[in-house]
Amino acid sequence: MPNSRIAGVGYYVPKNVFTNNDLLKYMDTSDEWIQERSGIKERRYADRLGETTTTMGVEAAKIAIERAGITPQDIDFIIFATLSPDYYFPGCGVLLQRAMKMKEIGALDIRNQCSGFVYALSIADQYIKSGMYKNILIVGSEKHSFGLDFSTRGRNIAVIFGDGAGAVVVQPTEKEGQGILSTHLHSDGESAEILAMYNPGTHANHWVQKPVADFDDAEMGNLFMSKDMVEKAQNFPNMDGPAVFKKAVIKFPEVVMEALEKNKLSTTDISLLIPHQANLRIAQFVQQQLKLSDEQVFNNIDKYGNTTAASIPIALAEAWEQGKVKEGDLVCLAAFGSGFTWGSALMRW
Ligand code: UT7
Repeated sequence: MPNSRIAGVGYYVPKNVFTNNDLLKYMDTSDEWIQERSGIKERRYADRLGETTTTMGVEAAKIAIERAGITPQDIDFIIFATLSPDYYFPGCGVLLQRAMKMKEIGALDIRNQCSGFVYALSIADQYIKSGMYKNILIVGSEKHSFGLDFSTRGRNIAVIFGDGAGAVVVQPTEKEGQGILSTHLHSDGESAEILAMYNPGTHANHWVQKPVADFDDAEMGNLFMSKDMVEKAQNFPNMDGPAVFKKAVIKFPEVVMEALEKNKLSTTDISLLIPHQANLRIAQFVQQQLKLSDEQVFNNIDKYGNTTAASIPIALAEAWEQGKVKEGDLVCLAAFGSGFTWGSALMRW
């Protein structure tokens, strides 16, 4: 059975830079507050009309595919992770397949928010190991800027998210000891609503139109999104930041240790930990808990904010470009986010 390895990495971020001070135009916040609480200095926002989650994903994919030494026509499976798709349905996978003129291959969209990339990598790993596919493209891409509440009401969320895309190509490797050593996925839906966007969604007692004539209007309503939902900001993401923070600082170290223990390795063996870029303070806390040096942890949240499913592949591609990920290195990816879902992947590069 072959191992799977990441054979090519790429990322794309929009050219529009929004500094913390740029946000002062829209909401009551400050550069000092944002930097102190999150470590973020600036983020990128996609063009409002020209760029979508898919178009950014395509740009990242082009680079990853070229670096893997193949062409888009060689890709035999797509996994697209995002929480901000171009359409409610179909997903971005087929839009990318069309845009890149790929063969009639399978395209899987997954919705695991901040853990999306680690979940995608785990799926790709199994397909490669089983021999089913040889060149899997994983894309994590987000256009958060289209749906954030930029008023003071939404400031706790709006300031931390940014747009961008990252991609990798996963291939089999016969090289002894190389590739993905293990992946570890978890979830706990108990707190699903504390980091969520509720609407539009089928939980709501609303219909686009009355399904049958004798339904009581007062009970069923006839709107997809009611005035009440909009007034309560339920059409925007909702987050209890401190509660997410508290859980994240427990689950990140736990899932990194799980990966290390599974492979009989220790924290000193880690060449580079790439945590999901949720908040610099979370990454620093995790670093401290695991007693890792600055050289062992990669962060770039200061430049891009939290790009959810895109954050790990963007960071991985950037670290690789900076020569911080080299052949033989032990690389650990770890994520935690909405759901809650969390996970890790340990690989020998
Ligand atoms: O990737 C997905 C997973 N998400 C995360 O991991 C996020 C985890 N949580 C966090 O990163 C942090 O909770 C935040 C950065 C979101 C917020 O930091 P915090 O230290 O937890 O702040 P807080 O929410 O407890 O708010 C503290 C104060 C509040 O004011 P009062 O009630 O103390 O008067 C907020 O209203 O800061 C206020 N506040 C702001 N002030 C200026 C909230 N957002 C802002 C803002 N600018 N943007």
